[in-house]
Amino acid sequence: MKPRPKRKVTSQRKLTSEERKLKSAKLSLIHAQKKIAKLEKKEEQIEYEEVNPNYEEPRLNKEAPHILFEPNKGPQTDFLAAPEREVLYGGAAGGGKSFALIVDPLRYCTNNNFNALILRRTNDELRELIHKSQDIYPKAFPGAKWMEKKSQWTFPSGARIWMTYLEQDKDVLRYQGQAFTYIGVDELTQYSTPYAWDYLRSRLRTADPKLPVYMRATTNPGGPGHIWVKKMFIDPSVPNRAFAATDIETGKILQYPDRHTKAGQSLFKRRFIPAKLMDNPYLAEAGDYEAMLLSLPEVQRQQLLEGSWDIAEGAAFGEFRRDKHVIPSFNVPSSWRKFRACDYGYSSYTGVLWFTVDPSTDTLIVYRELYVTKVTAKELAHMVMQAEVDDGNLSYGVLDSSLWHKRGDTGPSLAEQMIVEGCRWRPSDRSRGSRVAGKNEVHRRLKINDETDRAGLEIFDSCTNLIAQLPVLPLSKQNPEDVDTKAEDHLYDALRYGIMSRPVSRSIFDYTPATEAAKWSPADATFGY
Ligand SMILES: Nc1ncnc2c1ncn2[C@@H]1O[C@H](COP(=O)(O)OP(=O)(O)O)[C@@H](O)[C@H]1O
Ligand SMILES: [Mg+2]
Repeated sequence: MKPRPKRKVTSQRKLTSEERKLKSAKLSLIHAQKKIAKLEKKEEQIEYEEVNPNYEEPRLNKEAPHILFEPNKGPQTDFLAAPEREVLYGGAAGGGKSFALIVDPLRYCTNNNFNALILRRTNDELRELIHKSQDIYPKAFPGAKWMEKKSQWTFPSGARIWMTYLEQDKDVLRYQGQAFTYIGVDELTQYSTPYAWDYLRSRLRTADPKLPVYMRATTNPGGPGHIWVKKMFIDPSVPNRAFAATDIETGKILQYPDRHTKAGQSLFKRRFIPAKLMDNPYLAEAGDYEAMLLSLPEVQRQQLLEGSWDIAEGAAFGEFRRDKHVIPSFNVPSSWRKFRACDYGYSSYTGVLWFTVDPSTDTLIVYRELYVTKVTAKELAHMVMQAEVDDGNLSYGVLDSSLWHKRGDTGPSLAEQMIVEGCRWRPSDRSRGSRVAGKNEVHRRLKINDETDRAGLEIFDSCTNLIAQLPVLPLSKQNPEDVDTKAEDHLYDALRYGIMSRPVSRSIFDYTPATEAAKWSPADATFGY
């Protein structure tokens, strides 16, 4: 076979190829120039903040620069050490919450099975977190890589942290079929419903016994999700104490279903860790930030500076202060005057409150609550009497006066049915204007006495429903002198009846066992007093 003749490259051909190269290079240059022009235009639009000449880059630890991170004492340390499945670190702005959320997952990054998801509501806010993480992660784990396209960190061990944003509930489908061992949400109250948080819980899974699963959230109070976040993490317990997770609508403990090997046991634990600005020396010392927070309007100031959850825009009792109005429970001395008040509802709720009066200051103290639904008058009578077996003598009980008109199936009024069982009541004041007068009286009781520094009304910390409802009870839009009666107000009504019974520490009408003649016998068999 004849060998194929070598292809001759003519000088003409060479020239055209060079020309083509030149043409494409020119095109690239034009592209690049256009891009530069665009970027320069953008740069012009960026407004640079005035540079503070005294600004010092915050050093992680001034005394020991080789230590990369040291948690602030108190809540930040508690948050990082918390063993509960779901923990909320919430309260004042600047407390060091977001910072803690970024650092928290690092402890597992030596494990190649670790897969974390860290979320914020919007992309802009997320950038802040990414920026902070870029400061810390590569120092903690040399070789840790940020992949912008995937918005993910990978660590030399193979561990991953995906930092992304979740703007709308429906976007949770993005996580369908994925499993995470750690889920962290920064600014949880930015979500107006618990939908995303609940959905994410279903994405929590581990196949590695060395890797427990966690959900962590941080947030300031306020924001569209204030109420549900408060119901889920704050209302069920006192701060910093773990509790069995509850259903936020019914308040019932979430349990394993019947027939499960763990039937009846609670599903998992939650904890709320409160944050204060003063906990974070890195910001608190500077003072400027505090001054800015101090300048905010009352509601926002209490939320962002003091980290108060007990305040909502439009709340009827905005003066409620957990540190003043809630006190640790104690054994009420038997000599103190006691009484109770009740607002009854079958299909909605029944609220009963027990009161005592501290004789040294005449402070009214709510020492017990009962908040139940779907109980008949007879059942309620027994629950009330059961609750007070160790109370000694109760002076009286006030009950919504309409119950003397409402009849049960069997004839006697609901009030009479209770009295027959041995649970005595007298009717509350339901005259015209009594609602507004009652509300004014609640305000008067909530006031702090300058001399004693105590409020006229204190509530035992065990009364979690009253403590949850009172501070966020909204004002009525129609009548700003009253609360919104469509809101959850049964315990408030009971409180109002109790307060309007004009309690004092001792009354000459009180039963004293010393006098034989004073033995109680009802003056009126129907009213029972
Ligand atoms: N343990 C810590 N070590 C070093 N700096 C910290 C620490 N905790 C907080 N900071 C600093 O305080 C600043 C404010 O904290 P941040 O987490 O943003 O507050 P929050 O989210 O509660 O509003 C952070 O940017 C960080 O510089
Ligand atoms: Mg933050």
